[in-house]
Amino acid sequence: MQSKISDTEAMSRCLELALNGSGSVSPNPLVGSVIIKDGVIISEAWHEEYGGLHAEINAINKSGLSSFEGMTLAVNLEPCSHFGKQAPCVDTIIEKKFSRVIIGMKDPNPLVSGNGIEKLKKAGIAVEVGILEKDCKWINRFFCKKMETNFPFIVMKVAQSLDGCIATITGESKWITCEESRRRTHILRHECDAILVGINTVLEDNPILDTRHIGNIKLPTVIILDTNLRFPLNSNLALSSTKRKVIVVHSSDNKERIEELASANINLIYVENMFDLKNILELIATQENLISVLVEGGSHIFSSFVSSNLIDELHLFVAPIIIGNGKRTFSTVETLKLSESYKLRLVSSTKSGTDEHIFLMK
Ligand SMILES: NC(=O)c1ccc[n+]([C@@H]2O[C@H](COP(=O)([O-])OP(=O)(O)OC[C@H]3O[C@@H](n4cnc5c(N)ncnc54)[C@H](OP(=O)(O)O)[C@@H]3O)[C@@H](O)[C@H]2O)c1
Repeated sequence: MQSKISDTEAMSRCLELALNGSGSVSPNPLVGSVIIKDGVIISEAWHEEYGGLHAEINAINKSGLSSFEGMTLAVNLEPCSHFGKQAPCVDTIIEKKFSRVIIGMKDPNPLVSGNGIEKLKKAGIAVEVGILEKDCKWINRFFCKKMETNFPFIVMKVAQSLDGCIATITGESKWITCEESRRRTHILRHECDAILVGINTVLEDNPILDTRHIGNIKLPTVIILDTNLRFPLNSNLALSSTKRKVIVVHSSDNKERIEELASANINLIYVENMFDLKNILELIATQENLISVLVEGGSHIFSSFVSSNLIDELHLFVAPIIIGNGKRTFSTVETLKLSESYKLRLVSSTKSGTDEHIFLMK
């Protein structure tokens, strides 16, 4: 006989299912849901794409049933109680007569948090909240940060030598790290909403910034910080503007250049201060509905993000090579006292092919 599933096991399955939506649901959260009858999962689903049906409704529809008396619905995020792109899930859960609902975490949006739970309880449904809460918050850390602070989650990725260089003195950086590290980078690109680079990286590397190592399922938006509009129209990024959003942030009043770039489908954002990264990111995140940004370099950009204290998560891929007098990862960060150095917390360190993948958080 099949053993009865525990609440923790059910939530763990919700989290596994939720991750299937990675790269497709943002700025919505990653949500998975299962329906349990007599201790056994009889239907399971996830939120598949932005604006699409929510996980709970997908699980209900997949079951083929019309009433769920005596059954439990498990979901990693509080069911919605407001009209968004879809009708409120709590209304359907009540209408379908579920007996019990188990929830991983409250909705982090302070304006709606707890409302869905209250509505379910008022309808006489047994509700339990906080199962695997830490894991639930973790998989939706981009969404939680945006909801709580109205600012996107910043992921930084660096490929460097053992001695902290991201390129040789002549600017050569392809490839410092191995193929497995590049594959992991493409997963990060897939998970994040946009990739941000400095103009020198575009001019020196002519990067493609796609996800080809994992099948090019999605082409993320790119943001280029380029004060004087030096962005070349024959660069790989400019040529990709028919297939993805390319945004150039600048401080230029060169009308001719502005028109030239705009007519090549490049989105231009004018700012007074190129070093006010907080303002730039707030502006773009609101305009483009972004909840996460992957910062990919180069050295000046990495340094500016450190100096502005904007890193949430750092993925450092370290190759076992010594470059010596090369371009340093954080070349313009100045620290006079050790006590004032920029501090991060080591989360994990794993082997990535022939490299080391060091994962840190602020
Ligand atoms: N190994 C790696 O992980 C990796 C990744 C990327 C790049 N790279 C290497 O890094 C090198 C390029 O690095 P880089 O430091 O010379 O250039 P960068 O960081 O790519 O670009 C810096 C330029 O961006 C512009 N900019 C605009 N706003 C900025 C801001 N708030 N903060 C900083 N810069 C801003 C400035 O030019 P304007 O004043 O003209 O706007 C600045 O000179 C290349 O050799 C490339 O191969 C390595």
